[in-house]
Amino acid sequence: MSQTPTDKALYEAAEAIRAKAYAPYSKFSVGAAILADDGQIYSGCNIENAAYPQGSCAETSAIAAMIAGGGKRIARIYVTGPGSAPVTPCGGCRQRIREFADLDATVISHGVEGEALVCTLEQLLPHSFGPEFLGK
Ligand code: THU
Repeated sequence: MSQTPTDKALYEAAEAIRAKAYAPYSKFSVGAAILADDGQIYSGCNIENAAYPQGSCAETSAIAAMIAGGGKRIARIYVTGPGSAPVTPCGGCRQRIREFADLDATVISHGVEGEALVCTLEQLLPHSFGPEFLGK
């Protein structure tokens, strides 16, 4: 799967907000940018906490921005982080994305010193549980 021209805008949005990440503990700053069904880009960064489990991932922050901004569905999501290995969403965030994205939605994971990994949500979260199991 390949990247689209929109992915440049998503990459830039993810990188712009990654610069604002609050990650004093891990020092691993992450940015995420969502292309939503309304055509808008919503972004978020990780926000850590001294009580470690209370921290938020970038993807979680971006989903919060999308919902607050009126977007309803994730068409594509682009995640950026340090290093050369693709920064893939954690397990919890894969499930959070699943709530708002079709299984064929594109997830782009990018450690910015290396190549981006482009895959579908279903590839990242196979055999998943989702809203339709509960009649939604
Ligand atoms: N992190 C994200 O925000 N998104 C990811 O996809 C991977 C990990 C954050 C959580 C924590 O603040 C830091 O990266 C190190 O795990």
